[in-house]
Amino acid sequence: MSEKDRVRWDAAYTDRPPDPASALPREFSGQAHEFPVAGSALDLACGTGRASVWLAERGLAVWGLDVSAVAVNRASEAAALHGVAERCRFDVADLDDGLPAGPLVDVVLCHRFRDPALYPALAARLRPGGLLAICVLSEVGAESGRFRAAAGELETAFAGLETVAASEGDGEAWLVARAPATRR
Ligand SMILES: C[S@@+](CC[C@H](N)C(=O)[O-])C[C@H]1O[C@@H](n2cnc3c(N)ncnc32)[C@H](O)[C@@H]1O
Repeated sequence: MSEKDRVRWDAAYTDRPPDPASALPREFSGQAHEFPVAGSALDLACGTGRASVWLAERGLAVWGLDVSAVAVNRASEAAALHGVAERCRFDVADLDDGLPAGPLVDVVLCHRFRDPALYPALAARLRPGGLLAICVLSEVGAESGRFRAAAGELETAFAGLETVAASEGDGEAWLVARAPATRR
């Protein structure tokens, strides 16, 4: 990511009032019961940590990554406020450089950040039976644009996973999918 974009994200979070909420993004809320109550999770482009804190409250150890240091600080504050700081770690990372190395996890969550080059790494990072929850802007039901997924992008990219639920329309695409219980 360019320095200009990073500064823009920092400024956006600096101008935004603190958000003490914890929540699973609404797109995934119908599948909340699919999320494990123990193990580990990655929250990519975690922003202020709403989803990270939700995952940690559910019982998961969470690693949240975002390019904005302001967002990462807000996420750490939110985790402390919710009493789950010991289950959360937040780091500044530019995902344009790839997914930082780490162990396999039980959950990969990526909400409103799209980088198709990362898709294979996201699937590969799941433990057998692990859950992916991803939501991106889509061209379906919206004008095309370089930040938007073409029709079927998530379904195609994650064809090796077992779809739990998916939706595409109104300018948004999301997928909740599980890694096979045994690796092929
Ligand atoms: C639309 S926000 C979504 C934040 C959060 N996932 C949520 O749903 O509330 C997009 C996030 O992606 C982060 N981001 C953008 N480009 C990034 C990159 N190259 N590496 C890591 N994070 C990035 C931004 O800082 C921002 O927090």
